[in-house]
Amino acid sequence: MKERYSLPNIIGESEKFQSVLKAVMKVAGTDTTVLLLGESGTGKELIARTLHYQSHRAKGPYVAVNCAALPDNLLEVELFGVEKGAFTGATTSRTGRFELAGRGSIFLDEIGEIPLGLQAKLLRVLQERTFERVGSSRSIKADVRVISATNKNLLEEVKQGNFREDLYWRLNVVPIVLPSLRERKRDVPLLLNYYLDKFNKTYNKRVRISGDALSIFSEYSWPGNVRELANTVERLVIMTEKDMIAPEDLPFNLASADTRISTKKNSCFYEEHTLGHEVQNLERERIIRALMEHNYIQHRAARALGITPRQLGYRIKKYGIELQNLK
Ligand SMILES: Nc1ncnc2c1ncn2[C@@H]1O[C@H](COP(=O)(O)OP(=O)(O)O)[C@@H](O)[C@H]1O
Ligand SMILES: [Mg+2]
Repeated sequence: MKERYSLPNIIGESEKFQSVLKAVMKVAGTDTTVLLLGESGTGKELIARTLHYQSHRAKGPYVAVNCAALPDNLLEVELFGVEKGAFTGATTSRTGRFELAGRGSIFLDEIGEIPLGLQAKLLRVLQERTFERVGSSRSIKADVRVISATNKNLLEEVKQGNFREDLYWRLNVVPIVLPSLRERKRDVPLLLNYYLDKFNKTYNKRVRISGDALSIFSEYSWPGNVRELANTVERLVIMTEKDMIAPEDLPFNLASADTRISTKKNSCFYEEHTLGHEVQNLERERIIRALMEHNYIQHRAARALGITPRQLGYRIKKYGIELQNLK
């Protein structure tokens, strides 16, 4: 594990990304609480694991919890455990993730989704380093390093009253902001080569990419960040029957100029940038972001966008948004 998340497997030479790695190495040796911020797919989870495996807790467990994945009442049990008989249905005692992470690290992913009621309990763990199982009054010591992550603007959530300010400051002892791929475009070719090598090995292939295709990769806006890039490369390596990937082999979402940042007119996929076209680009990117920010739960993304799930479904089809590419 230590090997896998060591720095050679984390790609990025841009200044922005290098300063992230520097911050990671600085705090890895401490027990400080770290908050990882950044869009979906920028590497928050990868960095969380790196922090753990580079720390003196590396021999202890690394336990990850996605706070958005469980309904409120189950999340409390998942995090803190439950004593047999605590409520109807609690037929056995269960150890929570905070206990399981003892002498190691706990990664609280999508921390912005944690319900207000649970926020108080989490705050206490951070302040006093103790907690109780649901239905028990016995205090348990929490010997864990807490790393959390969110793609939300937590300060905005604080303003809206969805997130406790005191908890925000407790989590935000050291914030590390992961740059989007758009902000570190010079890392795109590096990542592309890294994933080409990796998937060529996995699938026993020898696929390479042409210069023209590479420039399309570099100019694309990558709303799904490194995750989207990795998934795109994997699918190309699996699907292609040639040894050299050309622009016409690229999936629709890349090859259609509509999501490219640049307005260079150098590809047969380029269309005139009329107003209608620009508006559609914007709509498409907003939809992709909303989907990612809401864990691909379409009705939530639709609500955030102020449209119906049906309208969202229609637009996903219309714009050829490939959900499996983003996840
Ligand atoms: N700098 C990087 N170098 C190599 N792979 C990366 C990098 N950042 C992210 N990835 C990969 O991209 C995918 C998404 O990363 P992840 O950490 O899950 O993002 P997030 O938690 O921010 O959504 C993972 O497969 C991860 O290994
Ligand atoms: Mg993640």
